[in-house]
Amino acid sequence: MTAEKELLACNFSHLFSDETRRRKSSPIKTTMAYFQDPNIVFLGAGMPPSELFPLESITIEMPKPPFTSAAGKRADCLKGTIMKEHEDLVFENDVPLARALQYGNSRGQKELLAFLKEHVSLFHRILYKDWDIITTTGSTQGWDASLRIFCNKGDTVLLEDYTYSSSVEAADAQGLNCVPMPLDGEGIVPSKLEEMLANWSSLYGEMPMPKLLYTIPTGQNPTGCTLSDNRKPHIYRLAQQYDIIIIEDDPYYFLQMDPYVSEDARLETAEASTMSQATFMNSLNRSFLELDTDGRVVRLESVSKTFAPGCRMGWLVGSKHLLDNYWNLHEVSIQSTCGFAQTILSGILNRWGQDGYIDWLMRIRRQYTGKRNTCLDNCYKYLPAEIVSVPPVTAGMFFMVFIDAEKHPEFHNTFKGDVLLLENHIYQKCVSAGVLITCSSWFKVNDPKPSCGKSADNTLAFRGTFASVEPEAMARGLQIFGETLKQEFKLV
Ligand SMILES: Cc1ncc(COP(=O)(O)O)c(C=O)c1O
Repeated sequence: MTAEKELLACNFSHLFSDETRRRKSSPIKTTMAYFQDPNIVFLGAGMPPSELFPLESITIEMPKPPFTSAAGKRADCLKGTIMKEHEDLVFENDVPLARALQYGNSRGQKELLAFLKEHVSLFHRILYKDWDIITTTGSTQGWDASLRIFCNKGDTVLLEDYTYSSSVEAADAQGLNCVPMPLDGEGIVPSKLEEMLANWSSLYGEMPMPKLLYTIPTGQNPTGCTLSDNRKPHIYRLAQQYDIIIIEDDPYYFLQMDPYVSEDARLETAEASTMSQATFMNSLNRSFLELDTDGRVVRLESVSKTFAPGCRMGWLVGSKHLLDNYWNLHEVSIQSTCGFAQTILSGILNRWGQDGYIDWLMRIRRQYTGKRNTCLDNCYKYLPAEIVSVPPVTAGMFFMVFIDAEKHPEFHNTFKGDVLLLENHIYQKCVSAGVLITCSSWFKVNDPKPSCGKSADNTLAFRGTFASVEPEAMARGLQIFGETLKQEFKLV
C-alpha cells in the first residue's frame, strides 16, 4: 500500500459551532442496530409495522442504456418491480420497501450508498483513507447543514462575488458575515483572495476570519464560469494556511461541455456523441477532493440536475469524522432522505450499473451542449456587440450578459450613475416586451465593508438560462432582449 492510502483526515472539531459541540448522539438511535437482529425481541423504538404500509411494490420504467436516441424521442425502456419484502425481491440489489419506508438508515440505504461510493471513486481520486458519503435532501440542505455544523452567529463565510442566492440568504439569516471573493472568467482569483486574507484586519477590522469557503466550481450559478483546475492548488493552500473548510457545491459537474465554436465552424456530428467513457471522464475538471490531504473539503452532490430536482436527494462526500456530525444533525432534523426517492434511485442506478449511469451523464452533457450552442448562437446574433459581452460558458445551465452601464445615454442623468436603478429599469422593460432575464444584483454578495479601497463598478449584468427553453423560444427571447437593449442604448 502506498503512503498516500494510509493518510487519515485531520480532526476539525476546533472549527465546530457551539450547536455541534452541544449535540450528543442520541442513545435511542443506537438501538437501531438491533432492529433486524432475529435474536432480539425489539421493544425499543416506535416504528410502525411495515405490514401497515399501504404498498406492496413499485414498478419503475426507465430509459435503457446506451442512451443514443435523439432528444425528445422515447428511448428503449427497462422495467423493474421493487418489492416490499426482502424475500420477494426480484432484483437482489433493490431496497425492499419495508426497509426503505421505515425509520432508521439515516446515512442512506446501503444499496444506494454502495453504488454512489463506487461512482464517487470512479470520478475522484480521494487522497485520504477515511472518507465517506451520507445522503442529504439536496445541496441546499447540505449547505444549510454545513452552516449549522460549523458556524455561530457572527462567524464569517466566504462566497463567490456572485453566488446562488439561496446560499447567501441562508447564511445571512443565520446572522453570519458573508464576504465576497473576487471572481473572473476562470472563477475565484487566488491572488486577490490571498491579498484579502493577508490583510483581513485592515479590511474587515474585528470581523472573525472566515471559517468556510463556499464555492460553486463548475458552471457557476449565476455567472456560468468554471473555476480552472490550475487555480485550485493555490486556493487549497490558502484554506490550509488560514484553517478554512472548503464547501464545494458542484451540482453542474456533469454538465461540462466542449468549448463553444460558432455555428458556421461547428461540425454537424458533435464530437461528444462519439466520445468514449474514458475520454469523457478524463475531460472533467478535478474536484477539490483530489487536493485534500487534510479532509477539509466537503463536497455537495445532488441529483437535481442529473435526474430531477423533485427527488430531493443528494449526498455529501468528506471525511468520516466530519460526516458523523452531519449524521447527528440529520437524526434530529431531516432524519433521512425520503425512502421513495432512495429506493427508486437505487433501483434505477443499480439496474443501469456504473457504465449505464456514465452513459446517462454523457447523454445529459450532449443535450446541454446543444442547448448552450443554440443560446450562444442567438446571443451573438441578436445582442448588440458594441455594448454587450457574453462569455462562452463551458458548463452548467447559465449564461451571463455583461453591459457597460456608462454607455447608456441616461446613466448619469436619469439614473444618477446608479447601476441598480438602471438594471431594474432594463429588467422591467424586458418583462414588458415579453422576455424575462434575471438581474445579477439578486445574486450579488454585498461586501460588509464596501468602502475598503474598492473602485465603483459600472458593469450591468443579467443572468439567463438555457436549461429548459426550446430553440425557437430561445431565439425569440434573445431577439426581444437585443431589441430592448438597442432601444435603451439608442443604437437604433
Ligand atoms: C449552486 C447550486 N447549489 C444548489 C442548488 C440546488 O440544489 P438542490 O436541488 O440539490 O438543493 C442549485 C440550484 O438550483 C444551485 O445552483
